[in-house]
Amino acid sequence: MFIDRADLYLEIMNSTWSEGEQIARSIAEILRENGLESGRVLEAFCGNGRVAIPLAIEGYEVLGFDISLPFIQDARQKAEKYRVSDRAKFIVSDAREIDNMLKGEVFDAIMIVSTSLGYYDSMTDEEILRKLRSLVREGSILIIANTFHRETPSWSCGRVFQRYGSLVLMEDMRFDPLWSRLLSKWTLLRDDGEGNLMKELEVNTEMRIYTSTELAEILRRAGWGVDSIYGDIRKKEKFSPPCPYLSLIAKAIQAT
Ligand SMILES: C[S@@+](CC[C@H](N)C(=O)[O-])C[C@H]1O[C@@H](n2cnc3c(N)ncnc32)[C@H](O)[C@@H]1O
Repeated sequence: MFIDRADLYLEIMNSTWSEGEQIARSIAEILRENGLESGRVLEAFCGNGRVAIPLAIEGYEVLGFDISLPFIQDARQKAEKYRVSDRAKFIVSDAREIDNMLKGEVFDAIMIVSTSLGYYDSMTDEEILRKLRSLVREGSILIIANTFHRETPSWSCGRVFQRYGSLVLMEDMRFDPLWSRLLSKWTLLRDDGEGNLMKELEVNTEMRIYTSTELAEILRRAGWGVDSIYGDIRKKEKFSPPCPYLSLIAKAIQAT
């Protein structure tokens, strides 16, 4: 879906652009609290830059990467539109290859926004996090913002609807408690404005969903020590399970 029907997921990211701006503001605040008034930030799984571009507007130099060429093309166009193309750069890369792609580069901070880890198994996620660790100095910050987590109550809801402009997402969810995988069927419907919903796409998705402890353990093995934990990063709220989001702030340590 991120590649074959990138147009549809782009609509979703565009209709949640203001959410990206809010997340970027909170991330900038956290970076400043950690002594980074400016600097180089890497965004892994950046989508169309809905967080990277607002963060560049805040004054940071941001490099975003994503596996989807259409998302990267859109991000580059938006960086031009928002006049930050000197500070917001975007490349196509698979997170599993990012250490080779960015060999020799050093960043002051890394961010991963929305539920972007979990497409693979936990060993692959750990490997991705280890590769990201190789791109920063000890003490640098990693922000994982607004990811779904294992305690999210809605996994048992079965079916949920969300509207993104004229696009309606119907998600049928099943949670596999043994392997902590969320198996969803996404049906994307187009509202023609006259009361008709036409099916645009039906696709099955699968993701590993972590508890905060599991994620912290993977991070530690990959060379990141968790410093603080929040729910929705936009409110910097305390993490408590009814909140659908988990956010973690970690620092680069020696890998164990
Ligand atoms: C849930 S979206 C989040 C996008 C963005 N972080 C945001 O909040 O708008 C997950 C993103 O991960 C990207 N992605 C999936 N697998 C990837 C991989 N192996 N390497 C790089 N990006 C990947 C997808 O193309 C998609 O843009």
